Amino acid sequence: MIIVKLGGSVFSDKKGSPENFRENVVRSIAREIGEFYPDEEFIIVHGGGSFGHHKAEKYGIRKGLIGLSSELLFFRKKGFSLTHHAMLRASMKIVEAFIGEGLPAVSVSSSSIFLMDSNRVVYGDVEPVRKLIETGFIPVLFGDVAVDLAKGVDILSGDQIITYLTKLFKPRKVIFLMDVDGIYDGKPDEGTLLFEISVDEIDGLIKRLKSLSTPDEGDVTGGIVNKLMEAKEIARFSEVWFVNGKVPGRLSGAIRGDGFGTRIRG
Ligand code: IPE
Repeated sequence: MIIVKLGGSVFSDKKGSPENFRENVVRSIAREIGEFYPDEEFIIVHGGGSFGHHKAEKYGIRKGLIGLSSELLFFRKKGFSLTHHAMLRASMKIVEAFIGEGLPAVSVSSSSIFLMDSNRVVYGDVEPVRKLIETGFIPVLFGDVAVDLAKGVDILSGDQIITYLTKLFKPRKVIFLMDVDGIYDGKPDEGTLLFEISVDEIDGLIKRLKSLSTPDEGDVTGGIVNKLMEAKEIARFSEVWFVNGKVPGRLSGAIRGDGFGTRIRG
């Protein structure tokens, strides 16, 4: 099994107009997956991109529901529904592109199967996902809003979903598709691309990147630093790759194992 994270900045321009969608990029990714499916099982987890982050930010979903005036409570709950609805639209477009390329993709709403507690997933009803895979489907999950037992509501990133699924399903690979060539030891335009990182090097790298970075604009779930923290967890169970999802062939390379990008050594 391979889990593929379709980053929000791959299928859309996060800083562009709300709900812009790069259909050609998603179709090309679906075609690459089609070269390996059905011999290989896949789970797709996509991010929010220009669909989720705008609304999550506007309605302050990450601040939760505790101690709010009734007016603000209504506002935030409405934002929860609207953010989820925007994610459903993103998922619909992605699944349509996959179906258009002949793949039996099926959307699974993350907020219907996961619960969070203080920003972490604490429960996931993933049996239907397991059965979808066993029956030959390609489940498509996504970063979403979620009920949080401590805060009321929160945003659940696609990366966190992948960590949770990896621990249960032990895929042979997890591949993060991004809009840059991999992980850099600085800002993408300035630092050098790291072709291989060992798990033990991740903490040092995170520290260095934090000291360089300005908060990632338009990303309510924390950009590359959070991604690396999840990757550190994931690498205990699976090989992890970071490759450019906008360049045709990079995903296939990571699937074969001779890809261009960053590989995390467990
Ligand atoms: C965010 O998911 C989901 C919402 C904002 C609702 P991710 O954190 O996985 O999204 P990307 O890949 O960064 O866009």
